[in-house]
Amino acid sequence: MATPAESLSDDTPHVPVLLGQILAAVSPVSGVWLDGTFGAGGYARALLDAGAARLLAIDRDPEVFSRARAWAPRYGDRLVMIEGEFARLDRLAADHDALPLDGVVLDIGVSSMQIDQPERGFSFMKEGPLDMRMSQSGPSAADIVNRADEATLADILFRYGEERASRRIARRIVAARAEEPITTTTRLAEIVQSCLPRPRPGQVHPATRSFQALRIAVNDELGQLVQGLSAAERALRPGGILAVVTFHSLEDRIVKRFFQQASAQAPRGNRFAPEQIAPPPRFEPVLRKAAVADAAELAVNPRARSARLRVWRRLDAPGVPVDAHALGVPRVASFLPTDNPGKERN
Ligand SMILES: C[S@@+](CC[C@H](N)C(=O)[O-])C[C@H]1O[C@@H](n2cnc3c(N)ncnc32)[C@H](O)[C@@H]1O
Repeated sequence: MATPAESLSDDTPHVPVLLGQILAAVSPVSGVWLDGTFGAGGYARALLDAGAARLLAIDRDPEVFSRARAWAPRYGDRLVMIEGEFARLDRLAADHDALPLDGVVLDIGVSSMQIDQPERGFSFMKEGPLDMRMSQSGPSAADIVNRADEATLADILFRYGEERASRRIARRIVAARAEEPITTTTRLAEIVQSCLPRPRPGQVHPATRSFQALRIAVNDELGQLVQGLSAAERALRPGGILAVVTFHSLEDRIVKRFFQQASAQAPRGNRFAPEQIAPPPRFEPVLRKAAVADAAELAVNPRARSARLRVWRRLDAPGVPVDAHALGVPRVASFLPTDNPGKERN
């Protein structure tokens, strides 16, 4: 089995996080696995090297597959690459006769490749079009910034970025776009920065929270996460493994609550209350607590700082529909004036 370090090579531009801990938690690896966030293929390769007979690699970003061409042939038909969203992973697996699955991994968020390419518009550090679309289709960040009404913009910044100056920033965006459309990352960063105090040493760049918020909105990242967890539940065999890596508290809260609800015992009643029927648990923990990067990993990959890994095992009980808002997905009004007015997105 390749060690995480051996799985990295010069043609891997994204350093996979918590890979050693994932492999330790899910081993021995066998059968059919699905990686819903293929990226640079760090997890996919490691799972194939660790013993997965077949691996379905899904990503919504068409670009990742051309990057994988250099090494994918090494795995022959054991590696199946599929462009699509992990929200639909059960249907994509069914289309490839891969159900039920033995394991699913999700490494939520953007990759270093996406952030490092200015033309993708994810980074406030480099000038690029205000894009942020992982799939390179649909409404972009510029569409939201230039067309959403002020209250909705403030809501997006507050709820998806936990930005306390959301109203001030939204007001400044609306004033700026009335003069000239906001089309670049650096222009938006400048506007956000002008609303906030200069950061003290050690504080994040003032535009960090606003860019995170817009990225989440553009890609419906939280809605995708809820649907992806449900889809994984439907696709896994009893005994199958679901491993999820998150990068910020909004994501981790959703994953934590999903597994809490899925493993819940009925609340203990008192002796006067009617006895409650316990729903059978649908998952049991493989790791009791979220795993985080150790000092050795942080020394080589500071990006792993905020990563949290949760690993659970599917049980026999059938899946149930989940309520996105009960799991912690904020309620945000529809972004674009052309959308159905008042419609909520998960
Ligand atoms: C953090 S990177 C994954 C890195 C990967 N684990 C590796 O080792 O190289 C996240 C990837 O997931 C993809 N992604 C994010 N959300 C997605 C979704 N809803 N459906 C499919 N792919 C998604 C992104 O395009 C990106 O390539």
